[in-house]
Amino acid sequence: MATIEGRNTILLSRGAEAEVYLVDFFGLRAVMKKRISKKYRAKLFDEVFIRNRTRVEARILSELYEAGLIVPSVLFVDEENGVLIVEYIEGVRASESFEKFDLGKATSISRRIGGFAARMHSLGIYHGDYTLANVLLRESEVYVIDFGLSGYSSDVEEYAIDLHLMVRSIKASRPLDAEVLIKAMLDEYGSHYRGDYREVINRMKEISVRGRYIDREVRKSIMRERYIA
Ligand SMILES: Nc1ncnc2c1ncn2[C@@H]1O[C@H](COP(=O)(O)OP(=O)(O)O)[C@@H](O)[C@H]1O
Ligand SMILES: [Mg+2]
Repeated sequence: MATIEGRNTILLSRGAEAEVYLVDFFGLRAVMKKRISKKYRAKLFDEVFIRNRTRVEARILSELYEAGLIVPSVLFVDEENGVLIVEYIEGVRASESFEKFDLGKATSISRRIGGFAARMHSLGIYHGDYTLANVLLRESEVYVIDFGLSGYSSDVEEYAIDLHLMVRSIKASRPLDAEVLIKAMLDEYGSHYRGDYREVINRMKEISVRGRYIDREVRKSIMRERYIA
């Protein structure tokens, strides 16, 4: 790793599971996501967990990219060391800028977010942490990042959770315009989702009424169980 973690490395973010660096990758500006070992996880399990999560994130990103969805391209994967290097997107996080846009621009972004979810779900893929914090805006392009909790599933519950999380995120960012923005997102979802749109929407409503769903932390521990089994 000495070649990558050199002098040109800048820390962009340090999350619970990974550190994200801006790096120079053979002359290209790139982002390196390095998963970190957790002391509380047994050593063997920690290795398997990191390897699996890195593999799934890289595979899903590549699959979405191949399908023409707007995600960073994958440049390098080292499963053993939990390292994933992707294209650097010079943009702003939607969670930090969405509230400042005029309604027209925010509506157009919401539509793209809905369209992205529909195309992703139609491929049998869920994101797992679909919020404005994981959307990057570069000029007029809307990128979705952070597939660290994503997976393959045909269960509408997973798709409904993605929509539910994004609805919640939009409500928190622009409470006054939320209704219009959410309608734009869901209309676009409806026109691109290949399965039964009503089923996903009904499940999403059910989740909001239930007032609870499997949240991020619980989902992580469920993923752990899956790997143990
Ligand atoms: N391809 C990218 N281009 C630019 N910035 C990125 C990219 N990927 C991640 N980042 C930055 O790093 C942060 C954390 O990355 P993310 O994949 O969301 O990891 P985490 O699982 O820790 O949330 C993002 O919010 C974003 O600011
Ligand atoms: Mg993130």
